[in-house]
Amino acid sequence: MRLSVTSDLWWKNAVVYCLDIETYADGNGDGVGDFRGAVERIDHLDRMGVTCIWLMPFFPSPDCDDGYDITDFYAVDPRLGTLGDFVEFMRVARDRGIRVIADLVVNHTSDRHPWFLDARSARDSRYRDWYIWSDEPEPDDPEGVVFPDKENSLWEFDEKTGQYYFHRFYRFQPDLNTSNPEVRDEIARILGFWMELGLSGFRVDAVPFLVEQVTDSGDGRLPDPHEFFADLRAFLNRRNGGAALLGEVNLPYDDLVKYFGDSLGNQITMCFDFIGMQNMYLSLARGDAGPLAAALRERPRPPRDAHWATFVRNHDELTLDKLSDSERQEVFAAFGPDEDMQLYGRGLRRRLPTMLGGDMGRIKMVYSLLFSLPGTPVLFYGEEIGMGENLDLEGRQAVRTPMQWTPNRNGGFSTADPAKIHNVVPSGDYGPERVNVSAQQRDSDSLLLWITRLIRHYRDCPELAWGDYAVLDCGARSVLAHRADADGETVLAVHNFSERETEAEVVLEGLDSSKVLTDLLVDGTVEISDEGRARFRLGRYGCRWFRVSTPETAPADSAGSS
Ligand code: NOJ
Repeated sequence: MRLSVTSDLWWKNAVVYCLDIETYADGNGDGVGDFRGAVERIDHLDRMGVTCIWLMPFFPSPDCDDGYDITDFYAVDPRLGTLGDFVEFMRVARDRGIRVIADLVVNHTSDRHPWFLDARSARDSRYRDWYIWSDEPEPDDPEGVVFPDKENSLWEFDEKTGQYYFHRFYRFQPDLNTSNPEVRDEIARILGFWMELGLSGFRVDAVPFLVEQVTDSGDGRLPDPHEFFADLRAFLNRRNGGAALLGEVNLPYDDLVKYFGDSLGNQITMCFDFIGMQNMYLSLARGDAGPLAAALRERPRPPRDAHWATFVRNHDELTLDKLSDSERQEVFAAFGPDEDMQLYGRGLRRRLPTMLGGDMGRIKMVYSLLFSLPGTPVLFYGEEIGMGENLDLEGRQAVRTPMQWTPNRNGGFSTADPAKIHNVVPSGDYGPERVNVSAQQRDSDSLLLWITRLIRHYRDCPELAWGDYAVLDCGARSVLAHRADADGETVLAVHNFSERETEAEVVLEGLDSSKVLTDLLVDGTVEISDEGRARFRLGRYGCRWFRVSTPETAPADSAGSS
């Protein structure tokens, strides 16, 4: 594929890396991460091949939901730095050719946001209609309570004005009324503000919830929720033609696909594939590629310019809400049997390496899968070195411990007294003494260097992101085989979910013995028969990526040349 094409719709084969300024690197030694610390670490991301940083919320916040409760959308939380520090971070990222996007959390504000303080001061206050009020709300559907450990209703009674306000998440996060045109304008202003400072887009928090409470918009008309996203996207691209929206849309595929928009994809540019992710864990638990293969076959094709975003872990619980009860129990039994590892009855508060018992072959196979599956891979900081969790911390905080840079105190995250650090690093097998960036940079077998290699090959194989893909039958239950075709080029990837060595065979339609499969991750080739059959062996949790080439010409990105 031509680079001039692939670099245009940059998000389609981007490598997105999510980090929280608060826990990434502390530049002033006060125990809290900050922009001045993070900026000094951008070369770590550059070396790995990251192309886009996703910044978790860094705005002023009482921090009751880790920054997802905002009191000012136009500023930087003073604990994390200043606007000047932010701009400097943007400049250095740009210098390294790395784009930056940030969380757009406008489903709700903090209850301490000046808009809400005004709204709850009187029924006829200036900002009253910026939130959602009711005299007598409908009874709650308990399924809809997102954080059932802390909340049992979506409505909270406000004593002073005698009405209930709606909050999809915690009660300290009142939902904004996005049916109100003034609120929509303000959201656009927020986007515009940060794009002027260089952002290339946003990770949109809680997408379906943003438009769930539709109220009369003043002209007797009920606004169309999808019109809201189409308007937002149009605004975004008027201001910056190359900007993109990455949406958190955890819905069944049929409902989700509507958030991409029309046939060109005029709403959310990329949506996370929660269903594929959950089925990947089921496949891992069973040693059977079937559930993931079925999800990939069922997954709708996104519109032309849109794309799926793929991921292994994120900053929240590993939600398994789209699996059946018995499937979820299988994953719990395999990867989080203790009650303390589970959260909200639907997920796990663990990172991948601990769930896989530290089995490095298996962990490496999962990341090979991540970078070869069709979709834009999104990494959560610390995944590249195989960080574990700290179950002593509350709820989702378990996976939000500071980045482990060195074996030193606080994992090199901060020079502060450990007592001052909010989320302490884990100890033991996953502590900084054993898991850190500096050691892995020097170890050719490390996960960090494996992921760096995978990223290079993923970037060298734009077919994986752009191509037509097909999951192939391969005669082995434990093996996932998929091929991607674009512009006359074919890439094939095979992954073994089992601890047993396995043989697999695929039929490659349209190919014959004039071609061979050249290994991309190791030296080697596999022949293709006259009928297009190719047979290969896979070791325990083995993975292989191949490019179709002719026997005489090894492809430019094969292992020999890299
Ligand atoms: C989804 C975010 O991923 C989560 O961390 C947050 O608590 C909720 N939205 C509320 O903003």
